[in-house]
Amino acid sequence: MIKPDGVSGNYTEEIKRIIVEASFDIAKEMLTQLDKETASAFYDEHSSRSFFPDLVTYMTSGPVLVMILEKTNAVSDWRGLIGPTDAQKAKISHPHSIRALCGTDLQRNCVHGSDSRSSAEREIKFFFEDVVSGDIASQHDEL
Ligand code: TYD
Ligand code: MG
Repeated sequence: MIKPDGVSGNYTEEIKRIIVEASFDIAKEMLTQLDKETASAFYDEHSSRSFFPDLVTYMTSGPVLVMILEKTNAVSDWRGLIGPTDAQKAKISHPHSIRALCGTDLQRNCVHGSDSRSSAEREIKFFFEDVVSGDIASQHDEL
């Protein structure tokens, strides 16, 4: 996901260029404005954290671009491309990462990436209810 600071900062095209150069396929995309309820549900795992209210305010501050990225090892390769959560640290330790490119700090870090296969499945279903991952679809076909 390209977060509000990435979309409003006009980083969408540059990030998509990085995505394509890294051999991901963009299987689906959707530009959407998250409301408070949706942003809170998306980040439900962090709902008890002190930064949660500010995170929801940030995530609802403008449109986000949600994408399904396809590739072998997509989860770990995308996490590697975006760099560490804190964009300020990313600028030092991972200067070529996407968060170093367009993020600002620990909160305004420009992009999201699922952190595991199961969270990727949850997040894909969260935004694209009709999409089931290829593996699951083919397992279904074999039944
Ligand atoms: P987290 O899942 O820990 O990071 P990541 O996005 O790298 O998976 O946190 C989710 C988001 O919450 C993170 O992208 C930015 C925000 N956040 C804060 O605002 N303050 C914090 O201290 C942390 C840990 C995260
Ligand atoms: Mg996370």
